[in-house]
Formats: sequence, C-alpha cells, structure tokens
Amino acid sequence: MRVLLLGSGGREHAFAWKMAQSSILEELFIAPGNAGTRNFGKNVDLSVNDFEAIKDFVLKNTINMVVVGPEDPLVNGIVDFFLADEELKNIPVIGPNKKASQLEGSKDFAKEFMKRHNIPTAKYGTFTKDTLDKGYAFLEKMNAPYVLKADGLAAGKGVLILQTLEEAKKELKSMLADAKFGDASSRVVIEQFLDGVELSCFVITDGDGFKNLPEAKDYKRIGEGDTGLNTGGMGALSPVPFANPTFLDKIQNQISIPTVKGLRRDDILYKGFIFFGIINVKNEPYVIEYNCRMGDPETEVVLPRLKSDLLDLFEGVATNTLSERDIQFDDRSVATVMMVSGGYPKAYEKGKTIYGMNTVSDSIIFHAGTKADGPVVTTNGGRVLAVSSYGKDVATALKKSYESVSKIEFEKANYRKDIGFDVL
Ligand code: AMP
Ligand code: GLY
Repeated sequence: MRVLLLGSGGREHAFAWKMAQSSILEELFIAPGNAGTRNFGKNVDLSVNDFEAIKDFVLKNTINMVVVGPEDPLVNGIVDFFLADEELKNIPVIGPNKKASQLEGSKDFAKEFMKRHNIPTAKYGTFTKDTLDKGYAFLEKMNAPYVLKADGLAAGKGVLILQTLEEAKKELKSMLADAKFGDASSRVVIEQFLDGVELSCFVITDGDGFKNLPEAKDYKRIGEGDTGLNTGGMGALSPVPFANPTFLDKIQNQISIPTVKGLRRDDILYKGFIFFGIINVKNEPYVIEYNCRMGDPETEVVLPRLKSDLLDLFEGVATNTLSERDIQFDDRSVATVMMVSGGYPKAYEKGKTIYGMNTVSDSIIFHAGTKADGPVVTTNGGRVLAVSSYGKDVATALKKSYESVSKIEFEKANYRKDIGFDVL
C-alpha cells in the first residue's frame, strides 16, 4: 500500500512509526511531517488543508490510502472532497466525513446527538447573539463554576470555566456579541460543571462495527498538580489505573455502543477514530467531548500498546471489514512525558538545537514540534518531543521516560515532573 499521512505532530510520528511496521506498507509519505517522521517515510511540503494540492500529489504518486491525523481537514470536508472527485473517489481517506466530524466540529451538534441517543453528558443550553438574555437567565439558574463552550473549533481554547456569575455573563457576552473566538463562538453551549477525573477512550469504526483501543489519561495543564494554562497535553499514560473492568463496561454500554448505533440510526456514515473525552463522576462516566481523531499525546501511549497491524485495521475501515480484523494489545503499560519549549503555551522561541536524543535507548522518542536541518534537529513548536516508555506498570514506565528525558537537552526546555501524580 502507498500511504499519505496528513499532520506534523507527535500523534503523526506515532502513526508513521506504527504503519512502518506493517507488512502491507509499500511507501509512506507524510505531509508535512517533522524531523521524526522522515525516518519512516518521505516528508512532503503540503498543507493539510490544501485539498487541491493533496489531490495533485495523490494522483502523481499513485497513493492508495490517505490517513488523516488532525481534525481540521476532516471538519473542512477532505473525505467529501475525495468522494466527490471522479479521480479520487476510490481512494479511501481514513477519517469521518464533514457531517460526522461535526461531533467535534460543533459542540451543539454533539450535545443534541447525545441527548437524542441518551448518552450521559452534562445538562446544557445553546445560545446565540439573539438569545443572549436567555443565556443570562440560564446562567442565573445554575451553580458555580460555570462552563462556557464556543460551538466551533477554537484551537483548544474555546472552553471557559468561570467561578462567578458576573464573570460568566461577561464572557458569554464577549463570546456571542463581540465574537471572542470569531465565528466559532457565534453559538455558545452553557454546561453544568461536572466534578471528577478525566480519561480518554478511543474506538475505531468502519461505520458498522467498532473495535476498542486502550484507554489513556492525559495531563493538559502546563503546571504541576494540574495548575496553570491548558496546553495540547504535557504527558499521558495507559492503561488508566482507576479504569477498572466495571467502569470500562459502563463506558462501552452507555457511551461507545450507543454512539456507534446512534450514528447509524441518524444515517451518518462515520469511518475512522472516535475519541471520547470522559469524566468519572462517582464511578459514572459522562462524555465531556467527542473528537473525530486520535488524541495527542494519547496516541503516543496507545499505539505502542497495539500489537496488531494498524494498516490492516485501516484496510478494514476502508472496506467495511473491520469485524474480520484481529486486534491485540500489549499488556505492558506505556507512559509519555512531553518536553516543551520554555514559555509554552504562551509565546516561545523556535530553532533551538536538540542534543542527546541518540543517547536514549530505553524509550521511543516521538517528535512533536521539530525540524531537520541536515543532521541537526531543532525545535519547531511548543510541544517538542514526547518521550514514551514501556513498563510492567505505569510507575515503571514513567520512571524510564523521566530517565530518558534527563538525557535530552535544548535551550529553555520544560516538562512536567509529576505526570501520573493523581493515579499512582
Ligand atoms: P475541551 O476543550 O472540550 O476538551 O474542554 C477542555 C477542558 O474543560 C476539559 O478537558 C475539562 O477539563 C473541562 N471541561 C469541559 N466541560 C466540562 C464540564 N462540563 N465540567 C467540568 N469540566 C469541564
Ligand atoms: N490530548 C487531548 C486531545 O488530543 O484533544
């Protein structure tokens, strides 16, 4: 198979690493990729949202499968673009179509969907500029803290949690009337606050059946003890110690099965990954959000635990034969620690030389924001490297990752020293 993978983060490096192990891979291209992905295929300088340029590349290079990492191209309709094109329509794109991607692309769509199919989630109301007063009235009936969510994609910044009614009203106005998040906040979902511990669950589906992937927990805040600003993710581990079989069964029966069935009932063809952001409230799971892709850095702990051939699973998705494919997991735990640029998630510098990676033998280094400058690798983003390790348990895996991290250096490098603190 000749595969084009779209994306440039740690998630895509992990996809490339895993697909390169497949016996059915002929050649892999990654657009745009990073300094890590080039070890598993050819990086090509294409934007993930430039569908015409992607078409050109796919045809010229006789690509026969496209794998999409990030949500943007999916929400922008890359699957629909391929299906509507005579020359592309038989080339499978692994990921949901535009309508199905609304599970991530519109919070209101996701909430309506969950309500319709009885999937446990926080109570909510949706408001626009014209119903701002109703939004205020809705807030007045709720208790602090207040959760406001921009309806559309806002690069992970669209969720606000406010402690006072006054602040919540001010932010609601700023989102709706002053377009705080542009078009993304032309509608705002106000939600009941759920108090609990979060985890990430994943399934892969061909639209008919689905297979579970291992669950993971990520650490989103920049500061130790889960404090400070939200980031794309500072570390992750899998399995999640509190996710016992009873709790995972509840997720399966109350969330995963009703989601896949609900999509079918609504006549929405969904192919690809479904990511359930779940919160455990007194041992009951609730959906905080859906994503239409794999998580990052969760992928950097989930894929190392997948023993089966990822391309074989993708082929199952493409040909509606997923139920015939074998899926097996490694019993070992995996943890990842993210090394980030100093200053991230605020302003940070790029272009710092990374030293010491070749001295690491006990971990897999997934590149997130890196660039190759000949043999030299430099930083090229906020999140720079995800250092993943296996262990007999999560604590052992984390210890190895921290040992490896201590051997890697770049100017102003930062990382959280307490990944796993709440579950160990
Ligand atoms: P999201 O961007 O949708 O992942 O939301 C960002 C973060 O906001 C989540 O990871 C949660 O920590 C938090 N959050 C979102 N919705 C709720 C809620 N209803 N109750 C409590 N926390 C929430
Ligand atoms: N790590 C959370 C996400 O990928 O959205």
